[in-house]
Amino acid sequence: MSAVVLDAAWTAVCTLADIPALGARRVRRPDGVDIALFRAASDRVYALLDRCPHKGGPLSQGIVFGEFVACPLHNWTIRLDDGKAQAPDEGCTPAFAVKVDGEQVFLRRDQLLAPTAALMTTGCGGAACTNAA
Ligand code: FES
Repeated sequence: MSAVVLDAAWTAVCTLADIPALGARRVRRPDGVDIALFRAASDRVYALLDRCPHKGGPLSQGIVFGEFVACPLHNWTIRLDDGKAQAPDEGCTPAFAVKVDGEQVFLRRDQLLAPTAALMTTGCGGAACTNAA
């Protein structure tokens, strides 16, 4: 088993086992919308803002398939790696860096602490982002 690496840039938020296979787990952020951690069939972990770019649906409650999540409200398909809605829909939700070391899952501390409004300009497609803070 590898050692858990902690440094100033990353924060341990849960273990891999805390995220259901083909499911999600929410991580609270102190200043804004939560982050949704997703576990794909490949066991790869992704992190998106828990807000659909359409009308703000909770992506953490959606259906995970392949490397995508289907929003529970109106079924838009969102890519897990970059948060982009799939055609014909348009928009995106910010995607976050994730590090998995052994069983431990880490998120970047600066992204956990950033206000949601700041993520809207830097975390996804900028002008294409329809996800207002
Ligand atoms: S709010 Fe997600 S598809 Fe409408």
